Amino acid sequence: MDLHSLFKAVLILYIIRAESSYIVNGLDLQGPIFLHEPPHRVEFSNNSGGLIECSGHGSPPPEVEWTPIPPQQDMVFQLSNGSMMFYPFTAEKYRHEVHATVYRCKLRNLVGTVLSREVHVRGGK
Ligand SMILES: *[C@@H]1O[C@H](CO)[C@@H](O)[C@H](O)[C@H]1NC(C)=O
Ligand SMILES: *[C@@H]1O[C@H](CO)[C@@H](O)[C@H](O)[C@H]1NC(C)=O
Repeated sequence: MDLHSLFKAVLILYIIRAESSYIVNGLDLQGPIFLHEPPHRVEFSNNSGGLIECSGHGSPPPEVEWTPIPPQQDMVFQLSNGSMMFYPFTAEKYRHEVHATVYRCKLRNLVGTVLSREVHVRGGK
């Protein structure tokens, strides 16, 4: 190996190490990981309403978001622990775009963002 390729190899190793360690001022940063990843399919009746749990950890602790953002706050509500709660509803209040939609849960912190599997929701009907 000549000096030039040795230098290149050392440089590449150095870059890989810098990217994988993420240590800033002694603070160990870690990308988000799911603790409760929601299931692929969630069904609930209009009488009970439904709860979909989503939580994760990381350093710093990740924010939980849902996509698409639940459109109607009087029908569905994000709890402070990240879970999404669907209220019981009457037949007239059924909305396809709320009660029969594909959602995904998103965990986000300084290091990055992870997206859950698709969650096919079917409420009432
Ligand atoms: C979030 O809060 C709801 C309501 O208090 C609870 O039923 C659910 O288990 C909680 N989920 C997690 C992941 O802690
Ligand atoms: C659920 O739907 C049924 C049938 O339309 C209705 O009788 C019942 O009152 C609804 N439940 C709630 C909590 O509104």
